[in-house]
Formats: sequence, structure tokens, C-alpha cells
Amino acid sequence: MSGEQITIFDTTLRDGEQSPGCSMNTNEKLEVAGALVELGVDVIEAGFPIASPGDFEAVQLIAREFGSRTTICGLARCRNEDIDRAWEALKDAEQTRIHVFLATSSIHREHKLKMDKSEIVQQAVESVKRAAGYCSDVEFSPEDAARTELDFLCEVIEKTIDAGATTVNIPDTVGYATPSQFYNCIAHLKKNVPNIHKAVISTHCHNDLGLAVANSMAAVEAGARQVECTINGLGERAGNAALEEIVMTLRTRSDYYGCDTRINTKRLFPTSRLVSTITGMQVQRNKAIVGQNAFAHEAGIHQHGMLQERTTYEIMRPQDVGFSGTNLVLGKHSGRHAFRDHIIAMGYKLDDEYFEQIFADFIALADKKKDVYDADIAALVEKRIGDT
Ligand code: KIV
Ligand code: ZN
Repeated sequence: MSGEQITIFDTTLRDGEQSPGCSMNTNEKLEVAGALVELGVDVIEAGFPIASPGDFEAVQLIAREFGSRTTICGLARCRNEDIDRAWEALKDAEQTRIHVFLATSSIHREHKLKMDKSEIVQQAVESVKRAAGYCSDVEFSPEDAARTELDFLCEVIEKTIDAGATTVNIPDTVGYATPSQFYNCIAHLKKNVPNIHKAVISTHCHNDLGLAVANSMAAVEAGARQVECTINGLGERAGNAALEEIVMTLRTRSDYYGCDTRINTKRLFPTSRLVSTITGMQVQRNKAIVGQNAFAHEAGIHQHGMLQERTTYEIMRPQDVGFSGTNLVLGKHSGRHAFRDHIIAMGYKLDDEYFEQIFADFIALADKKKDVYDADIAALVEKRIGDT
């Protein structure tokens, strides 16, 4: 591990679970929470306790079971009853955080909340103070921050830090920001909020334009030191920033970012599979880091390069994220080198003449069949040997 530490705040069990078709029962949430602890996340947002008795129960059980090993967080709107309920669910944990949020953008102020700026500031400040009365770790989120006027955002952040917020989270609630715009937003807060050094700046980016990870990384470059994310990028609509992508970008490019996380990256793939199995949300084959194809090479030129020197076409070791190894897929794009290595590994010893014949048979088969399995190759070899 090198450089500065980035706090990984996992919200799979809250924002991820809010995603259509992803709801989990209490036992499933406990299983995921256990996997997140093993993975080494710093904060687990376990749910939104006021939302339902089931959410309350899950947060309470997770707090009791895992609250001595990592920080357990509960979400609350800026309302007394939400904050009290969140604390009720969390209070048995050793490490607790209350996360309060209130929208600040003009669209939300006018159409949803029907509140003016001063009412927003007052309600946010009162709520942060109430939460701080329960625990010393309080996070405040100005919902839809990325579409909030920068001056007003600075004012809300300054006053909520004065009220006791120890983390100020900047959500791009609707995934509208672009990386340079989001960078500038964080840099502006760092420069213009006088007490900003008293709190950790966090990001919470949605993926509506496919920019959640890029925006989160831009925020880290600008000085954010907590990233909110979810396993497999689950979350409302197109999802949140994918935890595995954030973590492996920081790890692989620590030369560039100068930061790292406490994540045990070998647990990334198993955790991804667990969440996918429990939620029924399949991971796309070409998903970065944890997709089936993330470390698969079919093109002959790539396979040849890989057999000479892995780093020609791989920037991470598959074992480092929990795969058993590189997958040199045999298909019509595979070259002689990969095919020769594969049949040797299968236990065949062929002279050059046989090899060339069987390689030609293999290419002909691969042209017709998408995936060629060991059984197909064995049949080709045995047919040629039988023909002689
Ligand atoms: O997307 C969002 O703004 C949220 C907040 C509750 C942080 O999920
Ligand atoms: Zn969100």
C-alpha cells in the first residue's frame, strides 16, 4: 500500500438495494455485510432504518454482528424521526455513523421540497446537530450537489461542518456531471469553504451517463478522500460507481493518484459473485475487473504476447482480484502458440506434422463453433491419430 488512504464507503446494502429487482432479505443482507467486512471496506451503509421495519431490523442486526469490525452507517433524511430511528438501529455497534441528507439544487428546492435556501440551511444544520448528539461520526450529503449553485453549496457545506459534520459527501445524484466539471466542483469547495479541512470530502456518483467511476476518480484527484460505491456498480437506475473499478484503479495507478485503499483485492471477484447470486443481477461478461472476460484473451496475437510476457496485454494479475488465472480462450482468433501450449497442457505430445493437421482441424471447427472445449480438442486429436 502506498500514499494517502482513501476511505471506501460501500452502499450496496442501501443505494444498491434500492435498485429495481435488487431487494434482499435480512439473511441475505447479513451475508453480504459479512463479505464486505472480509473485503475490508471502511464503512458499510447498511440501510435506511426509517424506510421499513425490515430495513430497521437489517441495520440493527448488521450493527450488532459487525459493528466492532467496521463502521456501520444508517441513512436518514433531515427529519428528527429519521435520525432517532437511525440511531436506534445503530446504537449497539462500536463504530457508528449517521448519514443525513437534504437536497440543495434549485430543481429540488422548488419542485420537491418547496423550501428556500435559508430553510434548507437551517434544516440541514439542525439535523447534523441532532445526529452529532448521538455519535461523533456524522456525514452530511447535499443531495443533487452536482446541480447546485456553487456559492450555495459552499455555504451549506461550511455551516454543516460547523454544526458537526465530519464527512461532507458530494452526490452527483442523477449522474449529470462530467469529470472535469466534478473535479472543479471539489476543487472549488477545497478553496472556498474556510473550515473544509475539518471534514473528509466524499463523492457519491451515479452512472446515468456511464461516468460514475470517472467522476469519482476526478474527485479523488481534486482532494476527495472518501468514495461511495457499490459492488458491481449496483444502485438506483444505471447504478453507482463500481467499488471494484475504483479500488483497482487506485491500486493499479497508485503511481498517478498516490493513494490506496485497505481493500483485500483478492476478495473482489468472490464478493462480486456473491452479490450477483443473491440479487439475481448478472455481471456483464465484459465488465471491468470482475466480468468473465476481464482476463480472457482470444486473439492469437494477444495470446502469443501473453505467453511470452504477461504484461504485454495484462495490466493487473487476475489472481490479485480473485480469479484463478488468466483465461486464454480457444476460439477462431487463437494462434498456433496458444493452441500448442494448450494441447501440451492436456497431455498430448504431437510431432509437427500432426500438430499442423490438428491445428487446421481446430480452426475449421472454431469457425463454426463459438467456444471450443477440451472435449472437442481431444476428439480432433484422437480422430487424426485413429486415421493413421
Ligand atoms: O444519490 C444520492 O444523492 C443519494 C444520497 C442519499 C447520498 O443516494
Ligand atoms: Zn445515490
